[in-house]
Amino acid sequence: MKDSVTLHGKKFTAFLSEKEILLAVQKIADDIARDYKDEVPIFVGVLNGAFMFASDFLKCYPYPCEVSFVKLSSYRGLTSTGIVETLLDLPEQVEGRHVIILEDIVDTGRTLQELVHMFANKNVKDFKIASLFYKSEIYNGEYPIDYFGIEIPDKFIVGYGLDYREQGRNLRNVYQLKKQPMINLVLFGKPGAGKGTQAAFLKERYGLKHISTGDVFRYNIKNGTELGKLAQSYMDKGDLVPDEVTIRMLQDEVEKATEASGFIFDGFPRTTAQAEALDNFLESKEMSIDATIALEADDEVLIERLLERGKVSGRADDQDAGKIRNRFEEYNAKTAPLKAYYQQQGKFHSVNGIGEIQEITRRLSAVIDQL
Ligand code: IMP
Ligand code: MG
Repeated sequence: MKDSVTLHGKKFTAFLSEKEILLAVQKIADDIARDYKDEVPIFVGVLNGAFMFASDFLKCYPYPCEVSFVKLSSYRGLTSTGIVETLLDLPEQVEGRHVIILEDIVDTGRTLQELVHMFANKNVKDFKIASLFYKSEIYNGEYPIDYFGIEIPDKFIVGYGLDYREQGRNLRNVYQLKKQPMINLVLFGKPGAGKGTQAAFLKERYGLKHISTGDVFRYNIKNGTELGKLAQSYMDKGDLVPDEVTIRMLQDEVEKATEASGFIFDGFPRTTAQAEALDNFLESKEMSIDATIALEADDEVLIERLLERGKVSGRADDQDAGKIRNRFEEYNAKTAPLKAYYQQQGKFHSVNGIGEIQEITRRLSAVIDQL
């Protein structure tokens, strides 16, 4: 059994071995066989999660029986949404029959409630629930779990049919989510240094959310949010948008990303005052910046890159070497004090931004891995 697996940038550590799981499956089959040896029950597996359990369970079940499946879904990522959709209905003639539900896991119990509804007016002879895993601490307890295999604490698990964002179902063993310490980064770099490209890799590898201030502004203004309107009102007067407003937009982004293992701030802070405001905001959330990383590249190389990009994208500000140099000067003037600010906190790192994309990602990861 592997010690850990990584799915969508999240790390899961070994929790239950295939052997332990199969023993539990066998025990459920034995218990049900004892109770139903004189009947022909219909086992109803709940897709997708219970496919593996249903398969192994049926191989352990020694007497005549039928099998069918329904499909329900309540999880989106790591949390139960409370919305249980019925995706596939019961096709079988179940009237007068003994129905035994095969669930992979009972968590809050919402799915179960939906299942009970599905069978409520079907005049079944009796209705039982068998669940391989059972989170007793959070189950609402509305219906008895007639048979269960293994009681587990309130941890998110994957493997043996269970998924994290559709991955991990194929694992023979079960792994549990490792609560990773948060990683919060500020990414610096001149226009063309490859921040966007690298942020895309880092966010996947470390499960981070990339917050590009430019994108956040455009989003709020385009969608006419309260904050977007507020920001626009300053811009209409030709004033700079106060840091307070920007911070509030960032705060919204941070609060929306409940599943992120951390954040990559890009485009903010640009001044020491903004860096202080960001520190204060993060402190109020019991978070902090772990590292600021500057992607360094020679001006002449960047100018070449930007002019190339300008040809393709048609972006006017990328087509004029003079304008590009002005943007670089502005960057130098503003980021220099920021560098000092973060150096003082021992958080400043610089990474050579010239080379193969993968090689640069490797350099950045080396900095992050030793945080
Ligand atoms: P409930 O409706 O909250 O009881 O959730 C039950 C469903 O959510 C299960 O059938 C699973 O599909 C999914 N689920 C609950 N807990 C976990 C978990 O720890 N890992 C993966 N899926 C889970
Ligand atoms: Mg399920």
